[in-house]
Amino acid sequence: MIIGLSRSVSLAKEISRLTGEKFVQLNSKRFPDGELYLRFPKQISRKVVLVQSMHPAPDNAIIEAIFAGKTAREIGAKKVTLAAPYLAYLRQDKRFKKGECVSNRIMAGLLDFFDEIITIDPHLHRISSLQEIFSNKARHITANQLIADFISKNHPDSILIGPDIESGQWAAEIAKKINHPFTILKKKRYSAETVRVKVHAPEVVKGRTVILVDDIISTGHTMLEPIKQLKKLGAKKIICICVHGIFAENALEKLKHAGAEVIATNTIANHAAKISVAGIIAEHINNGSFVCSAK
Ligand code: R5P
Repeated sequence: MIIGLSRSVSLAKEISRLTGEKFVQLNSKRFPDGELYLRFPKQISRKVVLVQSMHPAPDNAIIEAIFAGKTAREIGAKKVTLAAPYLAYLRQDKRFKKGECVSNRIMAGLLDFFDEIITIDPHLHRISSLQEIFSNKARHITANQLIADFISKNHPDSILIGPDIESGQWAAEIAKKINHPFTILKKKRYSAETVRVKVHAPEVVKGRTVILVDDIISTGHTMLEPIKQLKKLGAKKIICICVHGIFAENALEKLKHAGAEVIATNTIANHAAKISVAGIIAEHINNGSFVCSAK
């Protein structure tokens, strides 16, 4: 049974179609005070996969997944899997300032009752694998091949740029898969809104299609800075590709306005989603064993 929770209904339908497993949507509403009501159908399968991305409104999305997961178990499911294509809170992976909440570990603790968690390209930076924060079978699969295929088919002569060191793992791997040139920039982040990025090797971008690749676009500032410079340096076309299109604070419009084309996967439902991760999730569900295909 593939259950589409509120953030991922259409992705869950696609996964259901590809796996041949039944698609189910819960009866869900808000009580007048804003609390969440959920009800499962009368018959529940032994194996249940809940599909729930953690954006928008990550806190609500997490509570919904927890309520649904625990209820599924209480009413008879023997194996409950959470397919969370975008796992929120992973970037707060350290106490940067005294007294701060290390959210990634707490979020993992809340979800650890699931028998399995599948996610796509989690933001792993200061921790090297999900096993450091989850004790259950949390596995990640990567959309790198899908992105590489998209670039190779649509922009065979492009150059790839990772806008910061953290994006390097995506940009480098995708570039390697399709034998494209790539470079990684250095970013300094002063606040959520203020970042500085310097494009080096300017001669390489002149007249070229340049593809900026990152795991997440949130406010878009990590992309906006290099876009400005790439334009000045004479790039012919600028494309931003990300796995997780959060697009906070009208980032999608800002990036388009800055002159870039924007492409995302559908780990989060968004208007730039042109690459579907349904196939790679369905494949893992069908295989029954979840392989960690990247770091
Ligand atoms: C962090 O290092 C991530 O890889 C992204 O670069 C970051 O989350 C993007 O954030 P924003 O779009 O707000 O600049």
